[in-house]
Amino acid sequence: MTKKIGLIGFGCVAQGFYEGLMQNPKLGVEIKTIVVKDAKKIRTAPQALFTSALDDLLKDEEIDIFIELIDDPDIALLIARNALQRGIPLISANKKMIADHLIELVALQKKYTTPMLYEGAVAGSIPILQNLAQFFSHQKISSVRGILNGSTNYILTKMKNESLSFAQALREAQELGFAETDPSLDLTGTDAGYKSTILAYHVFGQCALPENIKISGIDNLSLNHLLQSRRTDKKLKLISDLSIHEGIVYINIKPTIISSHDSLFAVDEEYNALEIFGNLSGKQTFIGKGAGSQPTGAAVLNDLYLLLNQFQYSYLKVAELG
Ligand SMILES: NC(=O)c1ccc[n+]([C@@H]2O[C@H](COP(=O)([O-])OP(=O)(O)OC[C@H]3O[C@@H](n4cnc5c(N)ncnc54)[C@H](OP(=O)(O)O)[C@@H]3O)[C@@H](O)[C@H]2O)c1
Repeated sequence: MTKKIGLIGFGCVAQGFYEGLMQNPKLGVEIKTIVVKDAKKIRTAPQALFTSALDDLLKDEEIDIFIELIDDPDIALLIARNALQRGIPLISANKKMIADHLIELVALQKKYTTPMLYEGAVAGSIPILQNLAQFFSHQKISSVRGILNGSTNYILTKMKNESLSFAQALREAQELGFAETDPSLDLTGTDAGYKSTILAYHVFGQCALPENIKISGIDNLSLNHLLQSRRTDKKLKLISDLSIHEGIVYINIKPTIISSHDSLFAVDEEYNALEIFGNLSGKQTFIGKGAGSQPTGAAVLNDLYLLLNQFQYSYLKVAELG
């Protein structure tokens, strides 16, 4: 039977998802309603689908799956609680909402035996949460290192390769839909912090305590960073490091000069990368677009496919810790 979707938001990510969905008519789903702020705006989907009545959608008994893709974390949390408590599977890409409420959201999934998937919230198109729940679920991971913010990576690349000013490169990143609605979240490293928090929970089964999280962004680069990054054999990247020592999780995010033999050296523009150090598989590097309409939409589309096939995050590492 065709599953009915309630989609909330039709911005950058939702439009990429919708485009992908239209390319896959055999998926067995149909969008029943799309809730946006301004239902009168001209859209690329049939106008009859749009409404601004979120409350009505949340009460709609016919919805089988909610897909929440709005830029307001407070409303996103209300939607997530409503969906999970009513037993309706949910997809989200709202990293701030998920990072800030992860433990509650996992508890709700367990209590109401209702899955929630959020691949688009971490590293855009890279299917890392799915891989952590499957391929890596029976390995010990000692650390994860990567580039987790597409917007700042784009800015740093453009400043180096095309000598754009910081302001010009930021404007381009915003025009291309890579930057958050509030770009300071990208520039200060806060956005990479949200993703690292979610990752740490999936990798190590626990969040890092606030005193073990150190974040500095690219908003206050030192002269040394700028001078070193101009060398042809060096690049400046916002690197996130996640590690565990004696059971304690550490997150360290900072602008870092890397040299040409580093496997993250070639990761430019809006691309993200993750190096995962597993005790059996050794180092594996995942690279893919970390932001933008279609790449993030592709992650949402894959979450939908996974939900339709009864996939859910096992949170095995969390369970192991008891
Ligand atoms: N952009 C990316 O590359 C990217 C990557 C990964 C994750 N994300 C995450 O994905 C989410 C969506 O980001 P986006 O870039 O697609 O945002 P966006 O382009 O700013 O679009 C936001 C959408 O949400 C709707 N909206 C906002 N508040 C609403 C409310 N209270 N009720 C109903 N609709 C509401 C807006 O309606 P109107 O159209 O009427 O204004 C708009 O359609 C965010 O959580 C973001 O952090 C984004």
